[in-house]
Amino acid sequence: MGIVITVTSGKGGVGKSTAVGNLSVGLANRGKKVVAIDFDIGLRNLDMILGLENRIVYDVIDVMEGKCNLNQALINDKKAKSLYFLPASQNKDKNILDKEKVKVLIEELKQNFDFIIIDSPAGIEGGFEHAIFWADRALIVVTPEVSSVRDADRVIGIIDAKSDKAREGKEVGKHLIINRIKQDLIKKGDMMSSDDVLTILGIPLIGLVPEDEKIVAATNSGEPVIYNKKTKSAKAYERISDRILGKDVPFVLENDSFFSRLFK
Ligand SMILES: Nc1ncnc2c1ncn2[C@@H]1O[C@H](COP(=O)(O)OP(=O)(O)OP(=O)(O)O)[C@@H](O)[C@H]1O
Ligand SMILES: [Mg+2]
Repeated sequence: MGIVITVTSGKGGVGKSTAVGNLSVGLANRGKKVVAIDFDIGLRNLDMILGLENRIVYDVIDVMEGKCNLNQALINDKKAKSLYFLPASQNKDKNILDKEKVKVLIEELKQNFDFIIIDSPAGIEGGFEHAIFWADRALIVVTPEVSSVRDADRVIGIIDAKSDKAREGKEVGKHLIINRIKQDLIKKGDMMSSDDVLTILGIPLIGLVPEDEKIVAATNSGEPVIYNKKTKSAKAYERISDRILGKDVPFVLENDSFFSRLFK
């Protein structure tokens, strides 16, 4: 049976879809059969990050409404052949998702994939609850800012209260990704440190991702940054992929370049 991992946050725009794109590729390149699902109904941008936007014919709502079967809607990634993508619909209402239909879909995917990675919408309404309801594990993405951390705290509470696992008295495994870390600002005391964030949220860390302008270029070119192996963010997502598979990898934050390290 596949494992459902929901990537979520409280605050929007903190890097969930970027994480889903890169970790899906990371896990697929480690030999896993992966499906990435975009639950951000009405908005969608995981397709852009994966560079698959032109291949979309059917979407997740079409599958749930029986307009097509699952195989018709699944899009095989261009490079990572064990990665599939299930797009969100762009022109439908967020509230169209139905809990039982989502369950049927997830159950079917669990039979066929090692990992089902769900890209959750921001906020705590509508699609968000569907995205966390069937999760086995949750990756909570935060940026080192008070507003992001506070909203993440709220989301952790909701996962613990409202997921299917919570109803059964079990726990959803929760891990934290701290994204867009700017070391120079932390050193100056202008940005929360990872330790500060971890102390407030009290869930284990699974990744530290530095601020990296290469991520923007990667999204524009439709090739997740993890393929650009020398970049600091690619290294960060590689390490998170290993940790998801249970590897014990040390936590380090890549510096900007060899030269910046040399000068330090
Ligand atoms: N580590 C990073 N360094 C630099 N830019 C980043 C980083 N992570 C994400 N970004 C940029 O931040 C923006 C938001 O990222 P993304 O779309 O992944 O966030 P999101 O949480 O999915 O947003 P939403 O809540 O709207 O779905 C994008 O422009 C992305 O390229
Ligand atoms: Mg997103």
